[in-house]
Amino acid sequence: MKCIAVLTSGGDAPGMNAAVRAVVRTGIYHGLKVLGIIQGYQGLIENKFQQMEASSVADIIHRGGTRLLTARSEEFKTPEGRKKALENLRANGVDGLIVIGGDGSFAGASRLAEMGMPVIGIPGTIDNDIPCTEATIGFDTAVNTVVDAINKIRDTATSHQRVWLVEVMGRHSGHIALEAGLAGGAETVLVPEVPFTLQDIVKKVKKGRQRGKLHNIIIVAEGVGSALDISKKLEETAGLETKVTILGHIQRGGTPTAFDRVLASRMGAEAVKLLLQGKTNRMVGLINRKIENFDIDYALAQRKELDLEMYRLAGILSI
Ligand code: F6P
Repeated sequence: MKCIAVLTSGGDAPGMNAAVRAVVRTGIYHGLKVLGIIQGYQGLIENKFQQMEASSVADIIHRGGTRLLTARSEEFKTPEGRKKALENLRANGVDGLIVIGGDGSFAGASRLAEMGMPVIGIPGTIDNDIPCTEATIGFDTAVNTVVDAINKIRDTATSHQRVWLVEVMGRHSGHIALEAGLAGGAETVLVPEVPFTLQDIVKKVKKGRQRGKLHNIIIVAEGVGSALDISKKLEETAGLETKVTILGHIQRGGTPTAFDRVLASRMGAEAVKLLLQGKTNRMVGLINRKIENFDIDYALAQRKELDLEMYRLAGILSI
């Protein structure tokens, strides 16, 4: 193992830079040559390599986004694209690759591992929908961004005694919605993992009003559907006037929290160590505060369930 490369792939996440920094500096510490690949798998196919020094990752630990840029690559999904990618890795003398991204990025990593390139995955996505890790890089920061927005919305919702729907990201999962809903004291949390009816929502709003609640905040995970559609249905079926805020991509930016910076640093360092130990097709994961590692294909075959205990708690604490 003389030369390793690192790329970021899929939706960016706050903390990815801290992970890149840890990979580069841990690799250099162990006497490796470290190459950065610009624009994820598409950059790999287009041979966009950059030699990385310790100074290349100076002053980025606190920056959201990714210094290596990212892109979604249709071409990499083709055997020809993957063949080109592998040729470029070999031509640049790469002995091992580290991929920072979500489940789609891990699927690509597994293909490269099958083709003989040692690959380690670092779970970087705000969705926290990767199994075999209690947290993915970016999740904590995104949750804090949502909670900050809920705090601000709660002020005006109270002043005007309004019902407010806040739509959050998470793709097909409700992890951001649930964690931020509990932390933000939301009255209702709608997630794809738990069925609900409009009547459930109306009942909860009316009950809150009867006991003197001045506002009612409803967190809507995007995987449930559009908060605007739910708002319209509430108006049509129950005459409930609601306001809607769609947080969108602000959840993907901002300075990473200390938690995400530490998580990313630990995962980045561990990924280099796994390559040095000759491991491949593994992902690093946080389990009981320790950084463990799991077979990528095993992880991708699982589904990260929502914590239903926490879901029930969010309902109880918002009575
Ligand atoms: O996977 C991260 C994520 O932010 C999802 O929560 C969201 O649905 C998706 O990316 C949006 O993708 P894009 O930035 O390509 O629109």
